[in-house]
Amino acid sequence: MKGDSPMNMPSLKEARKRTNKEVKTEIYIKNEEYQKTLKGKTFYIRTYGCQMNEHDSENMIAMLKEYGMKEVKDFEDADLIMLNTCSIRENAHNKVFGMLGRIKHLKEQKKGIIVGITGCMAQEEVVAEEIAKKYKWMDFVLGTHNIHKLPEIVDKSFKERKLKIEALSIEGDIIENMPAERQSKYKAYVNIMYGCDKFCTYCIVPYTRGKQRSRSKDDILKEVKDLVKEGYKEVTLLGQNVNAYGKDRNDNYNMANLLEDTAKTGIERVRFMTSHPWDFTDEMIDIIAKYDNIMPSIHLPVQSGNSKILKLMGRRYTKEEYLTLFNKIKNKVKNVSISTDIIVGFPGETEEEFNDTLELVNTCKFDLAYTFIFSPRVGTPAEKMKDDITIEEKEQRLYKLNELVNKYALENNKKLEGKTVKVLVESISDKEGYLMGYSDTNKLVNLKGTEDLIGTIVNVKIKEAKTWSLNGEYVE
Ligand code: 5AD
Ligand code: SF4
Repeated sequence: MKGDSPMNMPSLKEARKRTNKEVKTEIYIKNEEYQKTLKGKTFYIRTYGCQMNEHDSENMIAMLKEYGMKEVKDFEDADLIMLNTCSIRENAHNKVFGMLGRIKHLKEQKKGIIVGITGCMAQEEVVAEEIAKKYKWMDFVLGTHNIHKLPEIVDKSFKERKLKIEALSIEGDIIENMPAERQSKYKAYVNIMYGCDKFCTYCIVPYTRGKQRSRSKDDILKEVKDLVKEGYKEVTLLGQNVNAYGKDRNDNYNMANLLEDTAKTGIERVRFMTSHPWDFTDEMIDIIAKYDNIMPSIHLPVQSGNSKILKLMGRRYTKEEYLTLFNKIKNKVKNVSISTDIIVGFPGETEEEFNDTLELVNTCKFDLAYTFIFSPRVGTPAEKMKDDITIEEKEQRLYKLNELVNKYALENNKKLEGKTVKVLVESISDKEGYLMGYSDTNKLVNLKGTEDLIGTIVNVKIKEAKTWSLNGEYVE
């Protein structure tokens, strides 16, 4: 590549690789030099996608603030505009490219601003190539393996106006010690692992996030203990596939051990996501059932209710195996709520196979389900599978599924009317005159009460159940 600017492009071929290469742990170190350029400048960041991205943004915001930059809420006021992007489905892509169109317009008027993307799209070969060709007006593309280099690339961008791409596809390392500016003072995300090795055939994550790398238990538990000291009430242990935690390490320490030790730190609430049914052990279920501060709320994506489609998806379980696990959790964990993810219109999914999904929903009566139409992702095996179902048909299936899913969400919520649930009160609600928070079982609760309840876990008597939320009243 010409000039000094790095053009470290991602490559699909490299992203597919998994080797036994040792994972390095690096320590993030602040470089005072960048302060000279960054201090006093403003930035805007928009985050798309999952909790992992939200937490990456918390790290990036804190890094920029450490160098004296100030966050602004309107992109038109910023010296630096960043989009922390998501690749999971086509519409996530479209939103980012739509936003880039608006930003380009602004940059034509305000030449001095810096524009960059981070996150999963930055790590996609097709996206980086398109940006290198058609978005030369941008300043940087920073991949998921490099977020610790954000201050460096921003510093460089303010000094030289030339597109830089820093998004090599590598299996990945672990970076410790990055600062985080957490969105909430009461609940915190704690990464326990990065990447994913499951390679479900529709999913782009194993390519954009690299190989599975678990953080050491000492680093995780120290982070949780520090959060307890700071007064946090809840942690969510985060990873693409948290139940496989530790399988890539040689210390004989697994997700059940980590859940138990996290519970023992005394934090009032422990959550974890996302679980893959494959790695969900009986030992884990026993630990969840044993500790009151591990919340009885499990996100257990099923994706389809048909074993042939599950096989094509590369999910490694049959419908029957999923149901066995589901029932085991329901029987052992008192009052557990189980939510799921479902994809409709996977290539070749017949009407009967889709009906199997409806039947599974009728059996499981999920508390909540996130439903999606299959979206082909470049480079994944499912992209190349023959798909002759029309988009209209897929939309009809989604509609039908949503009707059923919503019916059970409401039915489950109705059971809570008149009951008292524990809620961590987070803030004033969008619903006027109410506060909001989440119950043990992760239901959104709007409650009547005074503002001094914010940040505490209180009893709430449920008066009215809706499909997506509960309304209630604080009780002593
Ligand atoms: N198309 C549609 N949905 C997808 N998901 C992941 N990849 C795709 C895709 N290519 C869904 C899965 C996953 C959730 C986070 O997003 O249901 O669990
Ligand atoms: Fe994607 Fe499957 Fe990994 Fe989840 S487990 S991130 S769906 S490849």
